[in-house]
Amino acid sequence: MKVTVVGAGAVGASCAEYIAIKDFASEVVLLDIKEGYAEGKAMDLMQTASLNGFDTTITGVTNDYSQTANSDICVITSGIPRKPGMTREELIGINAGIVKTVSSNLIEHSPNAIIIVVSNPMDTMTYLVHKSTGLPKNRIIGMGGALDSARFKYRLAEALGAPISDVDGMVIGGHSDTGMVPLTSHATRNSVRVSEFLSEERLEQVAADTKVGGATLTKLLGTSAWYAPGAAVSGLVQAIACDQKKMFPCSTLLEGEYGLEDICIGVPVILGKNGIEKIVDIPLSDAEKAHMQSSAEGVRKTNGLLEF
Ligand SMILES: NC(=O)c1ccc[n+]([C@@H]2O[C@H](COP(=O)([O-])OP(=O)(O)OC[C@H]3O[C@@H](n4cnc5c(N)ncnc54)[C@H](O)[C@@H]3O)[C@@H](O)[C@H]2O)c1
Repeated sequence: MKVTVVGAGAVGASCAEYIAIKDFASEVVLLDIKEGYAEGKAMDLMQTASLNGFDTTITGVTNDYSQTANSDICVITSGIPRKPGMTREELIGINAGIVKTVSSNLIEHSPNAIIIVVSNPMDTMTYLVHKSTGLPKNRIIGMGGALDSARFKYRLAEALGAPISDVDGMVIGGHSDTGMVPLTSHATRNSVRVSEFLSEERLEQVAADTKVGGATLTKLLGTSAWYAPGAAVSGLVQAIACDQKKMFPCSTLLEGEYGLEDICIGVPVILGKNGIEKIVDIPLSDAEKAHMQSSAEGVRKTNGLLEF
């Protein structure tokens, strides 16, 4: 199992590290445009192998796509992250060009790869990869919901005073401060709805804190977060590599599901060796349906800024 991660920055390196620590892939290639940067990150990570007990080989290359040839899974994290006060949508000008070039280079050398898009604005970048590569929809996956759901579970556990392992919940919709749809009506603590334990006001606060989860960290760190994003990507990569048939909310091209067409947005999917093997239609409350529609409008507005 060969995995390429483009962008050896904060998220790309974290993602490579988690993949290696989980020890399911034989090889991870880190590629960056900055001379020597991916090589340095790869060497540093390889020097953790004996300490962390993994056998995955991590190599770094400067913009040499021949080294990525025949990858099974390619992750795109290249591009600029947001600074405090910025929205993800503001990154489109620079990141669209990067993502378009990178995806074309990846496909040239790994025509059968499954692509995971991480660069922001992620739903629009996922749509761009669809439009520019023409790959089948099961092989293009946007990562956002897996991270947003992890942040939702963190906030739920905090509100409940419970361990995170007691909590389950999911965030669908667009990967943006206003677009996320935390499914509070479906969230549970050991199969009991969280609404049994938390007031409506507290649940609204949990949802609000979840939606600005990325912005909160960007303000604290001065750049966007990387540990949880890297871990979330590694979870998707593992589900595909190990054919786990796990359910994650991912950005995928919708063709009528959730009443939406010709848009990439986060919905629950089953991930296995073929990438997105199924889109799972779950019942939504009227408020969640309305939120999903307004979220889609926001994504379409950003998609409208794309130039093909
Ligand atoms: N989808 C999500 O949930 C999520 C979460 C966090 C970050 N992000 C996004 O991921 C992206 C990366 O964030 P980061 O914090 O790792 O940024 P970073 O600046 O630390 O790393 C980005 C790397 O991309 C490289 N790069 C730029 N252009 C390139 C090109 N053409 N080819 C190869 N490499 C290139 C840069 O040299 C840099 O090392 C950002 O767009 C950020 O907004 C998404």
